[in-house]
Amino acid sequence: MEKLQDLDLLDKRVLIRVDFNVPLNEMLKITSEKRIEEAMPTIQLVLQKGAKVILCSHLGRPNGEVVESLSLAPVYEYLKQRLSAKIYFANDCIGKEAVEMSNNLQNGEILLLENLRFHKGEESNDVKFAKELSKLGDFFVNDAFGTSHRKHASNAGLESLMPFTYGLLMEREMEMLNLNDKKHPIVAILGGAKVSDKIELISNLINKVDTILVGGAMAFTFIKALSGSVANSLVEDEKIDVALKIMEKAKEKGVNFILPSDVVISKDIDLKKGKKSNAFLIPSGFMGVDIGKKTIKAFAKEIKNAETIVWNGPLGVVENDCFAKGSIKVAKLVAKSKAFSIVGGGDTIMLIERARLADKISFISTGGGASLHYLQNH
Ligand code: 3PG
Repeated sequence: MEKLQDLDLLDKRVLIRVDFNVPLNEMLKITSEKRIEEAMPTIQLVLQKGAKVILCSHLGRPNGEVVESLSLAPVYEYLKQRLSAKIYFANDCIGKEAVEMSNNLQNGEILLLENLRFHKGEESNDVKFAKELSKLGDFFVNDAFGTSHRKHASNAGLESLMPFTYGLLMEREMEMLNLNDKKHPIVAILGGAKVSDKIELISNLINKVDTILVGGAMAFTFIKALSGSVANSLVEDEKIDVALKIMEKAKEKGVNFILPSDVVISKDIDLKKGKKSNAFLIPSGFMGVDIGKKTIKAFAKEIKNAETIVWNGPLGVVENDCFAKGSIKVAKLVAKSKAFSIVGGGDTIMLIERARLADKISFISTGGGASLHYLQNH
């Protein structure tokens, strides 16, 4: 596949799949333009090559129906202000009008198409729908990393129908998330509620990293598997065997698998104060809600020695500020470390942004599910 940088696209209508799935408030105002900004380098490069740009994206989950509040119109308004190029908006992403608009574009102009998911054929990867979409361009560029774990008409479908390449954002994400060429020691920090969401990720990471630091509710399934008393902590009893196997595999491969030794406990996740406890001896009526000081110290040692850090999943009940302290402390340690740091996953990214540390992290993925999917498959 030829790289976008090397392609001659003069006079071509270039259809670009972007991920403009941006958060909107009740007034339908965009609350973070990050995803639009991340797509800019590809859009600018294609424009510089003297092409016509046709942008397509989904927004939210309208399930194949036209949902006014999920229109891409707010993105159109933003792009008009952001770019000096002439920009048009097509009220439907397929059909005669959209095709005519794309045919009438001059070099250097942009056409934004309405939400792809207003059509059922997008998510079902319907060939007819993909063929309709393919009429809008002569060449296809997939730059929607955030949706790269889905097999939809606007990625998988178009890639099988049109000459295509990946955009700059896709390339960068794949390069940054690829742990195979990163410097060792590599430390993975894994959290979140469920082991079941992360089994494939942990299994894959065991082959690539030197140390795995585990936090979040997920840790209690491992602790229970080692016969710890976890009281009311969130546990997936049906995953205890899997947890044991994971720990055995880590041992076999010489991976340092570190569970919390102490935690903050509470009777309720909404309370404003917690108590300290040994992570393996939680008193009845209590549940673990954050990692404790000794655990943070043990994690700090590994983080300090790391050359590469990859982090997915919060280490406590971060929705409650009181139980976000452990995760924030770890975020600060990661931000301060000399390591190349990679953060993926919606909740972890939100945490880093909340702690105002985003500019101190080497790479923050634009994908939630997509970054998890990439890390567990490569
Ligand atoms: C995301 O927000 O993670 C992507 O845009 C994908 O959205 P989806 O989970 O609705 O497919």
